[in-house]
Amino acid sequence: MQENGYKPGLEGVVAAETRLSHVDGQRGELIIAGQRVEALAPQASFEAVVFLLWNGRFPTPSEEAEFVADLASRRQLPAATMQLLTAVAPQQTPPMDALRMAAATLDLDSPTDNRALATTLLARMPTIVAAYDRLRHGQQPIPPDPALGHAANYLQMLDGKRPSAARSRALETYLNTVVDHSLNASTFTARVIIATQSDMVSAIVGAIGALKGPLHGGAPGPALDMVFEIGTLDRAEPYLRQKLEAGERLMGFGHRVYKVRDPRAEVLAIAAEHLFEADGDKRLYELVKGVEKTAVSLLAEYKPGRNLQTNVEFYTALLLNGIGLETALFTPTFAIGRTAGWIAHCFEQLENGRLIRPSARYVGAYPTVNEGTISR
Ligand code: ACO
Repeated sequence: MQENGYKPGLEGVVAAETRLSHVDGQRGELIIAGQRVEALAPQASFEAVVFLLWNGRFPTPSEEAEFVADLASRRQLPAATMQLLTAVAPQQTPPMDALRMAAATLDLDSPTDNRALATTLLARMPTIVAAYDRLRHGQQPIPPDPALGHAANYLQMLDGKRPSAARSRALETYLNTVVDHSLNASTFTARVIIATQSDMVSAIVGAIGALKGPLHGGAPGPALDMVFEIGTLDRAEPYLRQKLEAGERLMGFGHRVYKVRDPRAEVLAIAAEHLFEADGDKRLYELVKGVEKTAVSLLAEYKPGRNLQTNVEFYTALLLNGIGLETALFTPTFAIGRTAGWIAHCFEQLENGRLIRPSARYVGAYPTVNEGTISR
């Protein structure tokens, strides 16, 4: 802490009260709406987790069926959104930028009721990502299928194939794992925007922008590229050592809050193990495990006392790759899951919140000449 209470990066500053999720960085615990992530993520449907976050309790079976149907009925994109995606695809705009642009158009035909708007926003995120992915590959978008759940429908809209139960479950586990994580950078962004009594679309668009950066949700692509570049386990140590000697950061390691292994890494590692077992090829899984071990021990050597451990992004890369997603889709897929958490925080901020307006310590110059004259 510096003088005048200034904390760079707001580290350790409590800026909200939330019932949505709790992160214990010393013990490596994540609780989502009263449930441990290890239990919740692999068992519940994504829709049930969203209902839990938005309503503070699990849905009854009939409420869950109703919510699943409501969400599924709102997936179709407005014509203006599709036109925008079609226009930017030939320029090969990165998918996260296309998502940010397209999400901004989503209030064009939506009701003003916040609950309905939130459901529509959540429903359409996978449609945007999948439609854009096909357009940028010169393919026609695949219409959403109301018979499928949120996760399975996203996979089908990407490649036109009915996904296996194992792939859908793996994606659902991923979406549940990343659905909410206390006051991370993108969630804070969403809360700051909604706290001005702006609108929910603006809050989600701002959050997408914050998530995109490599210090937040943009890390899994580079983390997987790193594993592919390493290629075989015997190359891991020299490769990682060289990166650390050059002062580079290892993507997928370190966290502002966790000083032990991120519990989400374990949930995703187990999900990846199940998926790779079903697939019959565990070579990448074994390589990732080995790279993790080497990286953690080298980080302890190069950054002693920093407790740099594996974060969620490292195993995100492995799991999403196993599901068959291209690297460019990793961060947009993170956004698809986290949108539900951003919206839950918007609801909470609207219920209890005050305008968020911290202070800054002024370190600039003061006028040196008389009142009314500009000092140059
Ligand atoms: N590789 C190498 N060194 C690292 C790493 C890393 N992955 N992470 C932190 N460090 C080092 C820093 O260089 C710094 O060293 P120094 O004091 O010798 O200069 C020290 O550890 C502290 O780093 P800070 O940047 O102050 O820590 P902060 O809490 O701000 O960073 C962050 C957290 C941004 C996640 C960081 O660990 C990082 O850049 N990791 C790599 C990117 C990544 O994996 N991002 C995904 C995070 S998970 C998520 O947001 C969903």
